[in-house]
Amino acid sequence: MDGEDSTPRVALVTGGGIRVGQAIVRALVGAGWRVWIHHHRSIEPAQSLARELDPDAVLGLVAGDLSVAAERTRVCAHLLDDVGPAGGRLDLLVNNAASFERGEFLARQDRDLERVLATNLVAPVSLMRSFAPALLHSAGSIVNIVDVAGFHPLRDYLDHCVAKAGLEMATRALAVELAPIRVNAVAPGTVAWPTDAHHGEDSPARAAVVKQIPLGRIGTPQDVARAVLYLADAPFVTGSCLRVDGGRIAAMGGSRA
Ligand SMILES: NC(=O)c1ccc[n+]([C@@H]2O[C@H](COP(=O)([O-])OP(=O)(O)OC[C@H]3O[C@@H](n4cnc5c(N)ncnc54)[C@H](OP(=O)(O)O)[C@@H]3O)[C@@H](O)[C@H]2O)c1
Repeated sequence: MDGEDSTPRVALVTGGGIRVGQAIVRALVGAGWRVWIHHHRSIEPAQSLARELDPDAVLGLVAGDLSVAAERTRVCAHLLDDVGPAGGRLDLLVNNAASFERGEFLARQDRDLERVLATNLVAPVSLMRSFAPALLHSAGSIVNIVDVAGFHPLRDYLDHCVAKAGLEMATRALAVELAPIRVNAVAPGTVAWPTDAHHGEDSPARAAVVKQIPLGRIGTPQDVARAVLYLADAPFVTGSCLRVDGGRIAAMGGSRA
């Protein structure tokens, strides 16, 4: 995109209807971006978010199961439509959508791994390929939301850890291959507490996690959103992974990411 274009930049946030994705959408809109909000099952939260935000800032809601190739194709075609609301422009892709499947390794099957990889690795890589021409045209960038569990194993989440490790590698590989498109990642620690039965607010699991975090608290989705905003506007930063974990990995002696 040429330097004379003063229209607000355009971002897509996958899984933008709830939790971390919603915080990223809010932060981008607050910073003057126009945003496509992708969702899958969270239809009502996404609609309610869109109603709440400045209508000029919301280009539209776009639904789809990103683990399914045909749905990804439909989502991409909708966004890249020359006569659509953004004229096919895209300046920022935030690959936020992901599953978080728990299961003891020996009890899981190949199809469980394949399902997790489809959502957490194949889908974001596929979107990077599909949107690369538009991002090249706009001198845009990509932010992949990975997970510190991609560097330091989280027991009973093997499939998730492997997928996120793959996405972090794809971030670095594509920073080289897709330049001048910038490709970065944010690796959250615990920033939005899971809502399943194993993870109650008062659970021993939560207390044990807080104890491991030097900053003494669980993070927030806004902590991740701030990192995304930074990377979206950091012109000499690519191939980087910004850890947003309150120091948890540093305290473990970790050197990766
Ligand atoms: N929460 C944390 O503490 C934490 C820690 C480390 C990393 N992260 C990463 O941060 C990101 C957001 O985390 P979160 O806790 O907000 O996640 P979440 O509450 O589990 O929400 C997952 C999001 O991904 C979307 N999604 C899941 N499967 C999908 C599919 N097949 N097709 C399309 N969309 C799909 C969901 O859309 P719908 O709801 O519309 O179905 C939802 O918006 C993820 O990449 C996660 O791995 C989070």
